[in-house]
Amino acid sequence: MYEELMRKACEVRANAYCPYSHFAVGAALLAKDGTVYTGCNVENGSYPVGMCAERVAFGKAIADGKTRGDFEAIAIAGAPAGESPDAPCYPCGMCRQVLMELGGGELKVVLHDRVYRMNELLPCCFALST
Ligand code: THU
Repeated sequence: MYEELMRKACEVRANAYCPYSHFAVGAALLAKDGTVYTGCNVENGSYPVGMCAERVAFGKAIADGKTRGDFEAIAIAGAPAGESPDAPCYPCGMCRQVLMELGGGELKVVLHDRVYRMNELLPCCFALST
């Protein structure tokens, strides 16, 4: 399920800018209208400035006019640069918060060989309003 989306997440990993961690992550975000937005991690010598692949993909989608609730699924692939992902790369806590706010609890999260829903990955989450 979502093999094509995962293929795109793996493909965009090649563009990751990760000279500090040497850990390359790719994300492919599927909007309900069928558009796919890809992202990779973009690190910085001032380490906290670095951006995760998932939030780069969401940023591209929002800049393109998409908004909260417009998304169906996101595939994430991560592994040391130069290696092929062979295990799930779970999204970090900060990304989970963004995935939940913009994707909602029913957003499908495709990790290696399993499809999760955001409700499973971030239960009882913070929100300003429902
Ligand atoms: N990274 C992501 O791109 N997504 C995540 O959900 C977790 C971590 C990146 C950040 C950093 O560039 C590298 O992986 C190692 O932490």
